[in-house]
Amino acid sequence: MWEKLRREEVLEIFRENVYGRVPSTPYSKSYKVVNEDKNAMGGMATLKQVDIIIVSGGKSLDIHLTLFVPNNLPKPVPAYLLIDNRGPSNTDPSRKLKSEFWPAEEVIARGYAIAVFSNADVDPDNFDDFKNGIHGLLDRGERQPDSWGTIAAWAWGASRCMDYFETDRDINSEKVAVVGHSRGGKTALWAAAEDQRIAMAISNESGCGGAALARRKYGETIERINNAFPHWFCNNYKKWSKNEDSMPFDMHMLIALIAPRAVCVTSAGEDLWADPRGSYLSLYHSLPVYRLYDKSTILKEEMPPINKQVKSRKVAYHVRDGAHNMLLKDWNWFMDFGDTVLK
Ligand code: GCU
Repeated sequence: MWEKLRREEVLEIFRENVYGRVPSTPYSKSYKVVNEDKNAMGGMATLKQVDIIIVSGGKSLDIHLTLFVPNNLPKPVPAYLLIDNRGPSNTDPSRKLKSEFWPAEEVIARGYAIAVFSNADVDPDNFDDFKNGIHGLLDRGERQPDSWGTIAAWAWGASRCMDYFETDRDINSEKVAVVGHSRGGKTALWAAAEDQRIAMAISNESGCGGAALARRKYGETIERINNAFPHWFCNNYKKWSKNEDSMPFDMHMLIALIAPRAVCVTSAGEDLWADPRGSYLSLYHSLPVYRLYDKSTILKEEMPPINKQVKSRKVAYHVRDGAHNMLLKDWNWFMDFGDTVLK
């Protein structure tokens, strides 16, 4: 019943009211390996830089995927794919610049591949009336109240990376975790809701329009996010500004769309803007759907203390000490959970 009927209804609720619908415009897609280094990270990994080239209506768009695969392991391996919203200094393929935001060496050392694409390749993060990025290629005709926004475009980009993984024999495309921080975390949840090939979604401090329950109106509200980022969601989402109590849904239903696949929701103690408690409760209230698949998925209603990860079957949560960010500490918990669900 859930899978055959209700899941599709709930997915439609989120397409119609929050992120918008992907247009059905045809496009072609090809992959070009632009760089390969079998001796990256001092011999620990193979670097592949792949352009995912999308063509439609005489225009083209390149998604630049960077991927490191561990050398000394049997293939295929599970992978983490970051939807990067911070820029290239965090994801340097030469590894001269290193950043905890994308701790490639540490992920390789734990036996995973690690990949990244920049959200801006798919759609630049500014309001330009949907002229640039993938909107400029695929949107035709008048914009509708449920036309896709920028978050749905970024999620679509993650799915194009999944298409590529299905062609790369080094990657176990059935064991890919999509990771995002903040606006990227909202995107990771929506990508996993729409694309059932994604084995695990990691929502790091995604807040409003991501994991946090909207009805709590704690921290960022729908009105504030619509005013500050009018391009992120579909136009129908504006109906819920200052009107949360009339919503026929809340964000626990977004998390439920990911069941029975894995989901890891995280918060940071000082990041009240992203409502840690509302994010935990959202995960907690998604569990009735997780339990349709595995009755032993159980979390307590009260939040765990700072720096203590809680896990049950396919769900995990932690609240890290400190401010809004994604750090190695967070990644270590992602991988502790990954070790139980991706390996
Ligand atoms: C702003 C925005 C959040 C978003 C964050 C980010 O703070 O209000 O919704 O998550 O930027 O992406 O870093």
